[in-house]
Amino acid sequence: MKKILITGGAGFIGSHVVRLFVNKYPDYEIYNLDKLTYAGNLENLTDVDSMPNYHFIKGDIEDQEFVQKLFEEYQFDGVIHLAAESHVDRSITDPMSFIHTNVLGTVHLLNAAKNIWQGSFEGKKFYQISTDEVYGALGDTGSFTETTPYNPHSPYSAAKASADHFVRAYHDTYGLPTVISNCSNNYGPNQFPEKLIPLFIHNIKNNKPLPVYGKGINVRDWLYVEDHAEAIDLIFHKAQPGSTYNIGGNNEWRNIDLIKKLIEIMDRKLGRPEGASLSLITYVADRAGHDLRYAIDPTKIKNELGWSPKVKFDEGFEKTVDWYLSHEEWLEHVTSGAYVEYYRKMYEGR
Ligand code: NAD
Ligand code: TYD
Repeated sequence: MKKILITGGAGFIGSHVVRLFVNKYPDYEIYNLDKLTYAGNLENLTDVDSMPNYHFIKGDIEDQEFVQKLFEEYQFDGVIHLAAESHVDRSITDPMSFIHTNVLGTVHLLNAAKNIWQGSFEGKKFYQISTDEVYGALGDTGSFTETTPYNPHSPYSAAKASADHFVRAYHDTYGLPTVISNCSNNYGPNQFPEKLIPLFIHNIKNNKPLPVYGKGINVRDWLYVEDHAEAIDLIFHKAQPGSTYNIGGNNEWRNIDLIKKLIEIMDRKLGRPEGASLSLITYVADRAGHDLRYAIDPTKIKNELGWSPKVKFDEGFEKTVDWYLSHEEWLEHVTSGAYVEYYRKMYEGR
């Protein structure tokens, strides 16, 4: 019997990780700790929330005392830490909340794990889920490896990089059995429609402008979210303490090419004439500090752990569009209230 704490399990990637662990490991007790910010949604987990090995705890990792008490009460054997403020644009307008959650929250979890595990790290693991954005931006060639120096440019990636440094420091200083993985951009069901793909699906459906930042030439390396969850499962169980893995699908797209592909799929599924939604493309002011290109070299995880993505992009992209089109209620719930204010602030007058 293992007790695993998954933080941020009501969010996009976290909900897929919770689902995988709850279903795959009936002998584990899975505790999902989530503050339920605008990005956290328990509707993401309705298919597993009545499983006997699943437990939800509403709480804030910024609250050090609460986190410490939680670890004392439940005596977790492992932590998979996904809770974070995760959107670059929000980090530009409100960097402090990123420092509070991503940096301080992570250190609170590290302290609590260190306190309850001290003296016996056998069978314990603290797994920090990080991003390739900590490496900074690439030019037209090359890709990030595990030894690429950290060089973050946005408040989001700087906060994630800072947290990663603390995770490594707790390994090197206190011997805490930590691992870190840095993944590329994820896509798939349950992603909050502030990120490129779900936002543009929502806008195409509603015939709203598609705000393309700058010239649309920035490149991202897209991975289907369930492939990321499987990599997390492997790393959590197999990685040596102190190790780091990059996760990516060798699937680079310039934003504008990805958007045109999305339009092609959406027009077909919505029964619109081919190319009808191309006119929605609207070039807007570029994001400040916009990283030109991210690309992951996934050789290490492939060679050492035998992981490679299972979902081909064409298949994953179609599945993603189908999911959003058939989950109107989910989309309506998450885009009401505070979302309207966010959208107005972020895009009107841009
Ligand atoms: P998300 O924004 O969809 O979900 C974040 C979750 O964390 C939400 O459920 C939210 O309620 C919760 N949360 C936020 N602040 C909290 C706090 N103070 N206490 C407790 N819970 C809190 O994010 P996501 O896209 O699923 O990303 C999850 C993790 O994966 C993040 O750490 C992110 O940096 C990392 N990551 C994301 C991507 C990506 O493409 N989305 C890629 C690589 C790495
Ligand atoms: P995003 O989904 O926010 O992920 P990240 O910034 O973490 O890579 O953005 C993906 C790319 O799409 C990024 O280059 C910024 C761009 N983008 C737009 O052009 N318009 C938008 O409205 C958004 C949200 C993103």
